[in-house]
Amino acid sequence: MSGGVPEWEPWPEFDDEIILARGLHPQNPMRSVLVSAFAALTATGVVACAGSQHSDSPLARAQVSVKPELKAMDSEALHQLIRLSDNVYSGAAPEGAEAFAALRELGVRTLVCVDSAHPDVEGAAAYGLRYLHIPIGYDGVPEAKQMAIVAAMEEKDGPYYFHCHHGKHRGPAAAAIALRADSGCSADTARMVLEMAETSTGYPGLWRDVETWTAPPADAPRPAVGPIAEVSDFEGAMAAIDRTWDRMKLARAADWGAPEDHPDLVAANEAQALVEGLEASLRKPPQEYLTDAEFLRQLEESTRAARALRDGLGEGVAVSAEDLEARFEEVRSSCKSCHLDYRDV
Ligand code: HEC
Repeated sequence: MSGGVPEWEPWPEFDDEIILARGLHPQNPMRSVLVSAFAALTATGVVACAGSQHSDSPLARAQVSVKPELKAMDSEALHQLIRLSDNVYSGAAPEGAEAFAALRELGVRTLVCVDSAHPDVEGAAAYGLRYLHIPIGYDGVPEAKQMAIVAAMEEKDGPYYFHCHHGKHRGPAAAAIALRADSGCSADTARMVLEMAETSTGYPGLWRDVETWTAPPADAPRPAVGPIAEVSDFEGAMAAIDRTWDRMKLARAADWGAPEDHPDLVAANEAQALVEGLEASLRKPPQEYLTDAEFLRQLEESTRAARALRDGLGEGVAVSAEDLEARFEEVRSSCKSCHLDYRDV
């Protein structure tokens, strides 16, 4: 990674010509609302690069267009996939070989993980994909992280795929900033990325930082960006809890049995992992809340609720479906209320 000042200057501001593809999400009317001015860019020759070709040839790489062309895409292997331009994509965390293969098929070269979970660097490398890790929170994209995103784009090793966990909030926000840095597009265009991703307005800091982003001076020092960033024990625990929680939701949808496509999933084990994750986060709360009695109370309350759910799922325990549902809801609302108070703004 070069620490020096890049030769490349951000593109000058140009009149955004926002191209939204038509009818890609018939099952998702919210997305279709955004579909308005469709124009076949390829026909006008603006987009010179066929996104599905992976090539190391410098000639092919030079053809990647940075011009915004927002498009929600359907992909079995990649959830929430949105193309922001030929050079920037956003979506959910790639899970397994199929997802990496799909990214490679798209022509992607660099994955940027903005979640606190460590990215699967080896899994990606097996498909010739490199990883950068720039974890951000839900309360916004701090200046240092904006700078890291700019530094990543200045490496010019795209196309880039930005992802968080589910690809709805943090990933699109980081990708929108990357698009601004890469294309010089307006705040309006960048905001449309969040609209298309259905990023929650409950995370006003993400919207704010996408809208107010301005290009840093060319001579401002860039941070080093690598494949694994340092995350606190608490952030790591939360990222792991979220994966466990996803599996809990799958088990719940299968009446607490093993879902068809996840035959190994055992709800009681997941509930135990959830308890352990919350206990781990209790042992290492964030520095700023170490002496915050209300924060610690909420964390203890959430752990208690998770234990009650686990106990209800134990073998030979006769708990009604309604009771289990109530225990599940209690955990869910404990996550939510603490995030509202301490994480999201
Ligand atoms: C008592 C408060 C509290 C509870 C309870 C709580 N969280 Fe969190 N969570 C936080 C805070 C604070 C952060 C932000 C940490 C940071 O960025 O420093 C966070 C971060 C997260 C993140 C983002 C991780 C990342 O990638 O950075 C996820 C996902 C998450 N929590 C999921 C959950 C789930 C699921 C539950 C419930 C099972 C839960 N949390 C319960 C306070 C809480």
